[in-house]
Amino acid sequence: MQKNNLDQTFGNQEVSNKEREQLIRRVFTKVAPRYDLMNDAMSFGIHRLWKRKLVKLAKPQGSQLIVDLAGGTGDVAIKLATENNLVLLADPSLAMLKEGIKRHNISCIATTGEQLALANNSVDTITIAFGVRNMTQMEKGLEEIWRVLKPDGRILCLEFSTPHRWLRPFYNLYSYYIIPRLGAWIARQPEAYTYLIESIRRFPDQEEMKKTMEQLGFSDVHYHNLSFGIACIHIGTKRGNR
Ligand SMILES: C[S@@+](CC[C@H](N)C(=O)[O-])C[C@H]1O[C@@H](n2cnc3c(N)ncnc32)[C@H](O)[C@@H]1O
Repeated sequence: MQKNNLDQTFGNQEVSNKEREQLIRRVFTKVAPRYDLMNDAMSFGIHRLWKRKLVKLAKPQGSQLIVDLAGGTGDVAIKLATENNLVLLADPSLAMLKEGIKRHNISCIATTGEQLALANNSVDTITIAFGVRNMTQMEKGLEEIWRVLKPDGRILCLEFSTPHRWLRPFYNLYSYYIIPRLGAWIARQPEAYTYLIESIRRFPDQEEMKKTMEQLGFSDVHYHNLSFGIACIHIGTKRGNR
């Protein structure tokens, strides 16, 4: 996909959410078999450290139901699993879930974030790594997360964010020139990785994301920058019920 097509898909307001959703679904169907390999290559393995931090902050203890939403091939979900808790891998892409099931013995459900196939007040913790950016209606997805969390339940959201100013020129150079080439070489899907970069560029920065979560009803919202803000973990709690 060339940049023009991306602009048509993401910049043009007339493009429906349905079309965006279909494009995103196609992207993940194509990249699924080489998704993990590509993650390692693109981030020099650093995504593993970010995910480890996410799991550490989630501190899965006791008998909890944890949902790893937009969980893809399950590498966060499997790290969250302990003897006592139940972890559910949730993702709308059957291709990504299939790769996850091949690698791990884990329960999964096919669901989008915007229409979560889970009961009200049923989940202790929701983790979402590099997933909210892919929701065509992120606010709807966050509302759904709020709905399914139990009172005092938490969301932990790991996402690309806005790096420190001094790092931006290098980061932009790497994102725009190197990543699509790596995508072509390793995943054989340059368009998919052009989509990735565009979606990162359009994503709110740390403070904006915090404000959005607060406006949607989450309490105690705070965040941890990772690798000088290249990625960030936002945490919020559902206090009480509406
Ligand atoms: C970049 S991958 C992240 C996978 C995994 N969490 C990780 O960190 O490796 C994004 C995932 O979001 C999923 N996704 C796309 N649209 C979604 C939606 N509307 N709701 C929830 N997940 C979605 C994709 O299928 C894909 O598996």
